Amino acid sequence: MKILICGKGGCGKSSVTALLAGELEKRGYKVIVVDNDESNFGLHSQLGMGLPKDFALHFGGKRMVAEKLLASKKGGRFSVFREGLRASDIPKDYMSKKGGISLLAIGKIRDFGEGCACPFNALSADFLRMLTLSKDEFALVDTDAGIEHFGRGVEAGCDLLLMVIDPSRESIRLAEKVNKIAENVSKPLYYVLNKTDEETARVLLDSVDQSKVISVIPADKKVFRNCLVGEALDFELKGIRELADFLESWENE
Ligand SMILES: Nc1ncnc2c1ncn2[C@@H]1O[C@H](COP(=O)(O)OP(=O)(O)O)[C@@H](O)[C@H]1O
Ligand SMILES: [Mg+2]
Repeated sequence: MKILICGKGGCGKSSVTALLAGELEKRGYKVIVVDNDESNFGLHSQLGMGLPKDFALHFGGKRMVAEKLLASKKGGRFSVFREGLRASDIPKDYMSKKGGISLLAIGKIRDFGEGCACPFNALSADFLRMLTLSKDEFALVDTDAGIEHFGRGVEAGCDLLLMVIDPSRESIRLAEKVNKIAENVSKPLYYVLNKTDEETARVLLDSVDQSKVISVIPADKKVFRNCLVGEALDFELKGIRELADFLESWENE
């Protein structure tokens, strides 16, 4: 099952991704985490891993990714991967690994004036569309802030969209937008409320489509502290267990 994790900047996408990866691993799944955020460098630390080499380098870097994708166009579709691509086909040099969790980073913007991240999103869209998973594998795709990646089709290869909502007006507004996008692209959408307390959870539940809320994660000192000092989020949280329960039952439906 491939899950796209989205939401506004700082709402907790990467934290939820790392905690969920750990929870699914504990339940015996193999997890491939796809870092689709070209600007931020936090996810590998949250997973307790080193930063992997950009996958885009495997194709010769960002510009070559665009050229190779265009050159590969066949019958209206383009792909630099073969049908039935498996996670195990990815060269080991481009993966960080810890136990049953692997991390693949599509590409990072490192220099001022380097240009846009469109080729990274196109590569990511192609990769996720072609990636074939078995029953015991999950792919978690951690995205950049906002909705730019939707316009590039990154969601097309995913089975389910998970939006992380923090207690802010921007998140509530964005939830409506993402809801419309999900309808347009015919993908199931669910919400995770994050960084809440009793009062803010109530306000959020009154402000978004409650039937889509599958987990509520309180503001947690340990999450905040570990992110601050760059330590792994390798502990359990009730809200994350509930999230994993939901995904497991959804997968088995
Ligand atoms: N449940 C939580 N409780 C406390 N702090 C959190 C929680 N989730 C995320 N954070 C904090 O919010 C900040 C942004 O989190 P991050 O996961 O990097 O967000 P995003 O990937 O959406 O930009 C970090 O400092 C992180 O520690
Ligand atoms: Mg992030």
